[in-house]
Amino acid sequence: MNTTKTLIDHALSAREKAYAPYSGYKVGAALLTADGKIYEGCNVENAAYGLCMCAERTAVFKAVSAGERDFTAIAVATENGGSPCGSCRQVLREFAPDLTVIITDAAGEHRVTTLAALLPDSFGPEHLPDSE
Ligand code: THU
Repeated sequence: MNTTKTLIDHALSAREKAYAPYSGYKVGAALLTADGKIYEGCNVENAAYGLCMCAERTAVFKAVSAGERDFTAIAVATENGGSPCGSCRQVLREFAPDLTVIITDAAGEHRVTTLAALLPDSFGPEHLPDSE
């Protein structure tokens, strides 16, 4: 099975776990590490609406907290092929400016793009004088 299809399947599966009682908009993400591991994430909403967390950031935070920092691709699954929000783009950019981004709808109809295309001329760690 090819990598794109595998990531889409994981994103669709992660989407089934979404907790989205307020928006009804379920999102799943599957983040691929450079050594082939996949971290899934879903959106997690809250009765205090401002605390809702996106699927992509859930996946990034799970992966980074497990010790991962090197990512090559992410798949994002929604009902209608919605694109990752600006906050998620920036969080992904921190670790993976060269990331491939696969955007799929619930039926698996997808397009492949890049984080650089989604977030051009971006700000990153290298712009801070004393970053690691
Ligand atoms: N959402 C994501 O999970 N990822 C995005 O990139 C866009 C939006 C979620 C947040 C909220 O739970 C729901 O979709 C509607 O905005």
